[in-house]
Amino acid sequence: MQTRPDQAPAPATNGNPSPSTIVDTRGRPLRDLRISVTDRCNFRCTYCMPKEVFGKDFQFLEREQLLTFGEIHRLTRIFRDQGIEKVRITGGEPLVRRKLERLIEMLAYHQDLDLTLTTNGSLLKQKAADLKTAGLKRVTVSLDALDNETFMKMNDVDFPVEKVLEGIDEADRVGLAPVKINMVVKRGVNEHSVVPMAKYFKGSGHILRFIEFMDVGSTNGWKMDTVVPSRELAAMIAAEFPIEPMEANYRGEVAERWRYLDGSGEVGFISSVTQAFCRDCTRARLSAEGQLFTCLFATKGTDLRTLVRNEASDDEIAEAIRRVWHVRADNYSEIRTAETAKLRKVEMSYIGG
Ligand code: GTP
Ligand code: 5AD
Ligand code: SF4
Ligand code: SF4
Repeated sequence: MQTRPDQAPAPATNGNPSPSTIVDTRGRPLRDLRISVTDRCNFRCTYCMPKEVFGKDFQFLEREQLLTFGEIHRLTRIFRDQGIEKVRITGGEPLVRRKLERLIEMLAYHQDLDLTLTTNGSLLKQKAADLKTAGLKRVTVSLDALDNETFMKMNDVDFPVEKVLEGIDEADRVGLAPVKINMVVKRGVNEHSVVPMAKYFKGSGHILRFIEFMDVGSTNGWKMDTVVPSRELAAMIAAEFPIEPMEANYRGEVAERWRYLDGSGEVGFISSVTQAFCRDCTRARLSAEGQLFTCLFATKGTDLRTLVRNEASDDEIAEAIRRVWHVRADNYSEIRTAETAKLRKVEMSYIGG
């Protein structure tokens, strides 16, 4: 039995067997909440936080702008009553937020939520055990190459591969499994790492997923010809290790799953550019300062923090969430063009992955 953390509001959600379902204009229910807990990161991945933009003078959010853990917990509880089943903690890099395990402990009170986190793995070795004890269920680690030359060029802070691998091992050891590994593939930068990565994680019990490079934000210099289509990646892997497609775990799963014919595990392909999955998109995103977004490629959000800090009731906040979701029509990946890619969209480090 978990004890209720001091700051947690009353347990209105645990024991509520039938949270409501709200659907948007395309009939998509609200099911996943991705919560960014910080817009800061200790990496400067060139495709996400290029140093020219996110340099010394960049204005990150101030502490008082961030939702407190109590505020995040309260909002999560309200979202959960609107039908949320999965919560993913993101950033920036979520593990740079101090005492994150306390937030995990608060959210884990809702045992029916699938509670998970996406990290760059740099602090995972130190934190995995505490996260597990706090009630985190799984973890996804970003890793774009196995050789230091490529990886350091991509993270742009000289962070070595071995430390991320140690973090993955530790996560596995403490039971944050199966660990998923996200590899963003960018043409001309790390395609040569695709097969070595597949080889390394094959048979490990971890699930490697290849992500097509996307035009998130407006600072990462995305161009269509820098995308390596998943079809091409699958062919590269199949040439070395035969694979076949598998059933999805659940409707709307982002990654398309393939298994190795020799039974040594599976890989996934996340093809937001070449095969949009908007039709089943059930994801809402909450920024670290409490803005609600209904698409990764949004240009504006809805401020929930002001409601929270102006003593709005749970019902009033729930109504605000329902209003936003009811009118949602997002399908950015279905309508992406070179022109839309130039729109001033919210940055990935701000909105979360
Ligand atoms: P699980 O199935 O619970 O493991 O989660 P997941 O497959 O959603 O994994 P994760 O949250 O790690 O998502 C993997 C990556 O897919 C993200 O980092 C994004 O790059 C991309 N992604 C996730 N959700 C969306 C989305 O709604 N739209 C687009 N375009 N990309 C997404
Ligand atoms: N395209 C695709 N994936 C991206 N990520 C960050 N920026 C991009 C992008 N432009 C990935 C990270 C991490 C997750 C949060 O999203 O590598 O795995
Ligand atoms: Fe940080 Fe992740 Fe962005 Fe890299 S992709 S800069 S690790 S938030
Ligand atoms: Fe969902 Fe927007 Fe991604 Fe489409 S582009 S899957 S609507 S977040």
